[in-house]
Amino acid sequence: MYLCSRNHKKHKDMTKRTFLLFHLFTFSLFILAQTISIETEHTQMVLRVNQQKRLCQTYLGERLSAQTDLSQLSMPQAGLSSSCIKGLEAYPVMGTEDYYEPTFEIHHADGNPTSVLKYVSHSTTGNVTSISLKDELYPVEVTLYYKVFPEEDIIQQWAEIRHEEKGKVYLGRYASSMLYFEAPKYFLTEFASDWAKEMQMQSQELQFGKKIVDSRLGARANMMAQPFFEVGLGEPVRENEGTVLMGTLGWTGNFRFTFEVDNQHVLRVISGINHDASTYLLRKGEAFRTADFYFTLSNKGAGEGSRRFQRWMMNHQLHKADADRMTLLNNWENTYFDFDEEKLVALFGEAKDLGVDLFLLDDGWFGNKYPRKNDHAGLGDWQVTKDKLPQGIPYLVKKAKENGVSFGIWIEPEMVNPKSELAEKHPDWIIQLPSRETYYFRNQLVLDLCNPKVQDFVFGVVDSLMQALPQRGSGEGAIRFLKWDCNSPITNIYSPYLKENQGNLYVDYVRGLYKVLDRVQAKYPDLYMMMCSGGGGRSDVKGLSYFTEFWCSDNTDPIERLFIQWGYSQFMPAKAMCAHVTEWNRRTSIKFRVDVAFQGKMGFDISLKGLSDDDRQYCREAIKEYKRLKDVVWSPYLYRLVSPYEGQHCVVQRVNDDKTHSIVFAYDIHPRYGELILPTRLQGLDAEAKYRVKEICLMPGRQSWLSCNEKVYTGDYLMKVGLKVTSSNDLVSHIIEISKTDTAD
Ligand code: GLA
Repeated sequence: MYLCSRNHKKHKDMTKRTFLLFHLFTFSLFILAQTISIETEHTQMVLRVNQQKRLCQTYLGERLSAQTDLSQLSMPQAGLSSSCIKGLEAYPVMGTEDYYEPTFEIHHADGNPTSVLKYVSHSTTGNVTSISLKDELYPVEVTLYYKVFPEEDIIQQWAEIRHEEKGKVYLGRYASSMLYFEAPKYFLTEFASDWAKEMQMQSQELQFGKKIVDSRLGARANMMAQPFFEVGLGEPVRENEGTVLMGTLGWTGNFRFTFEVDNQHVLRVISGINHDASTYLLRKGEAFRTADFYFTLSNKGAGEGSRRFQRWMMNHQLHKADADRMTLLNNWENTYFDFDEEKLVALFGEAKDLGVDLFLLDDGWFGNKYPRKNDHAGLGDWQVTKDKLPQGIPYLVKKAKENGVSFGIWIEPEMVNPKSELAEKHPDWIIQLPSRETYYFRNQLVLDLCNPKVQDFVFGVVDSLMQALPQRGSGEGAIRFLKWDCNSPITNIYSPYLKENQGNLYVDYVRGLYKVLDRVQAKYPDLYMMMCSGGGGRSDVKGLSYFTEFWCSDNTDPIERLFIQWGYSQFMPAKAMCAHVTEWNRRTSIKFRVDVAFQGKMGFDISLKGLSDDDRQYCREAIKEYKRLKDVVWSPYLYRLVSPYEGQHCVVQRVNDDKTHSIVFAYDIHPRYGELILPTRLQGLDAEAKYRVKEICLMPGRQSWLSCNEKVYTGDYLMKVGLKVTSSNDLVSHIIEISKTDTAD
């Protein structure tokens, strides 16, 4: 009996254990099956489905070594528990148990403004993981997408929203991404802007509550704030140390980043199109694709993050990233609207004399009934002004070619002056309020790109220009370059085309623009295009998948440009950053101005006549050196060594892929008397290799006074001891070439 009962007990214990083991096994299988890991070389994001079928973020940080550790990550619960209030739902919806700002809000046809999204399935194809979520009560489906760029450590996120409801359904919010972080402190760096003040880096600690960085300007969307951010996790953003989240939105329109520190001190970062004034009518069966959000999580400061973003731009995003870029002479600040054929042909001669590749004709060449003599008239009438340029554009292209330079031209095809034939003929193509006094920005209005007829018109502006030439297309002998400007934000917001669906305007405007740019890119794949917007009012990474470069700012004062370029370099590659030498800040020498422009995609917007012989000679030589070194200048391996934000000097360094060649750009601004000058340590070199240091781009007849000039050092020395490249002189600059060498001295 005892035995029997003992045996019986043993049997019962075994059954219990098997039962438990079985459940543990199936439970962990459930956990593993529902664990979704998104990984780059150094970063990992882990998502998991909880028992209520809600998708949650359980980890975002440095990549974990063991996959088996993933099940150790704690699981956020649904329901009103404290961890839920903390809320880590991957795509939180409006109206449920998460009390903070949601990513998604949908107003169903019956008026219900809430939704609960539950996990359905997921799959990974190549580098893209998609996760399908559904509302069990309403036919609404949201698919979240995560695309990884493993080598560059960039993660791209977007969502696609669909419904099958009868009646009108509106999207109130449609963010691209929600990311959660837990750190003792959070510090945001944002990029405030204005005309001629782009990319002013400003930092602040994020404390309880919300900080929103957004734009509501529609067309010249980034005039007041740029679509980039950096968040220092635990400490303020540093250049080479610390964990930094860097993010940007690929959307050439209104964006919004929300940084919310909740009452559990969790930081929630929501990124997407700005839903403000954009409650979107989504038709049954139509897919609404949100904008693309891109981020990197660097644990070696913003410097490493910038190199990742620049590599990603060069490898995956920038239009014609592999192709060359053209140095140019622009006539805007030289002539403004006051030019004729004779003047332009003389300028082609100046372009040839300088040695640049292209002449860029700016604003003022069009309009007949209302000629474009100033910025009050003519926008919209893209026919050449006959009494100003009687032989038309083909003649100019031909003359430029005779001078050995290519030809480019300025357009602003999304805009219209009320004083134009276009405005008279098609008032219904213009975004303006039917019933109120009209407000003008730079005396102009924005065309309604939501309207397919307007899209055709805008495409036609480019197409007719290109087709008017005997050499059609965008190769040699044709127009090779367009400066596509966009000077006005959308004012008097009302689309005659959308009628009662005005909430769709800001989104459909951008989509209309993309439709036009798709057509331009397909028909003229060789055309180089500068994205310009009253300076840097358009500067997003999606825009740069259509444009080969962008105009960083109308402010070309070289000192200001050091700051502006420092700002854009956080995300943008040098190859895309147009930097022109002008007359802004004539207290600075031509050398200083050229040396600042040398860091980007170099151009000139200046009269050569006003320059001394030495200055002209300096420019010619600098262009030659620039062409010789452009592959190093445009390398994504950027090291920002001395920040102009921290003192009166700025030093940046570029290194090529195989570390054989590097350039150091050093600038002294207004150092204090007797300031202690220390060597600047270089970065990114091969410690074992030997490098020859040579100052280049010297004024005619001048010698370098740098003590390191023409000396050979090991990479180790250059990185540990450094070189004295700054000084206590006012407004002095040096360009220093560092080349790997086999000789000792
Ligand atoms: C904008 C641009 C300038 C110039 C003018 C022409 O302001 O930023 O570079 O092209 O328009 O009107």
